[in-house]
Amino acid sequence: MRKKIVAANWKMNLKLAEGAELVNDLYNTMPALSNNCNVVIAPPYTHLLQTATQLAVIDHVYLGAQNCHHESSGAYTGEISAGMLRSTEVDYVIIGHSERRQYFGEDNELLARKVNQVLSNSMNVIYCCGEPLEIRDAHTQNIYVEQQLKKGLFHLSAEQLIDVVIAYEPIWAIGTGRTATSTQAQDMHAHIRSVIADQYGADVAANISILYGGSCKPSNAAELFACADVDGGLIGGASLKADEFIGIISAMIKS
Ligand code: PGA
Repeated sequence: MRKKIVAANWKMNLKLAEGAELVNDLYNTMPALSNNCNVVIAPPYTHLLQTATQLAVIDHVYLGAQNCHHESSGAYTGEISAGMLRSTEVDYVIIGHSERRQYFGEDNELLARKVNQVLSNSMNVIYCCGEPLEIRDAHTQNIYVEQQLKKGLFHLSAEQLIDVVIAYEPIWAIGTGRTATSTQAQDMHAHIRSVIADQYGADVAANISILYGGSCKPSNAAELFACADVDGGLIGGASLKADEFIGIISAMIKS
């Protein structure tokens, strides 16, 4: 059975002490999770060690990172390798977030190499896909997202793909307050699952968690998570406030 997951992407926010306070507040109010209902927290790199220590005492809450380099080591000043992340207890790495694609020129081919680095270091990938507004307006979002999946992930074996979580994040919904409707989310999630089924078979597709991201908040999470193919969320802005993030986690648990 596929997992339900709510993942926090803090992006470039919160100083070290603020991050500690947020995780502490989450610890004090976290509802009971389970093997099949997990939370991931992806703080900035500088917070990983501290957050790892804090999360060690919270069941079913895992440490995530927001990116990694596509090589395993070497002369890449300022970069962080997947192996380094694993050595700080990271379990999930977000790969291909639209902000990385847009501001740092990361294309699907580069992302495929990052995916390999994460998997070969025994971590899980959260692979982001999603279309910009002009693609949605042209009604070509299905083929656009399909290409992102094929080029970034479909070199993997079925066994490897099991360690991948997909996050569908329409760019026009990220940080804009304009959420996809539950119908738009469900349609795309069902499409993603069918594309995976065509390549890997229905059993593999049924076991992949597909998260929705883009202005997800406590007030819309329940409706989004009620969709048959929506298995949780990747949360930006609302993950920076303990009460809002807990509200979204509670919606996942009830879904
Ligand atoms: P948002 O960000 O929740 O602030 O829209 C989501 C994301 O970028 O992962």
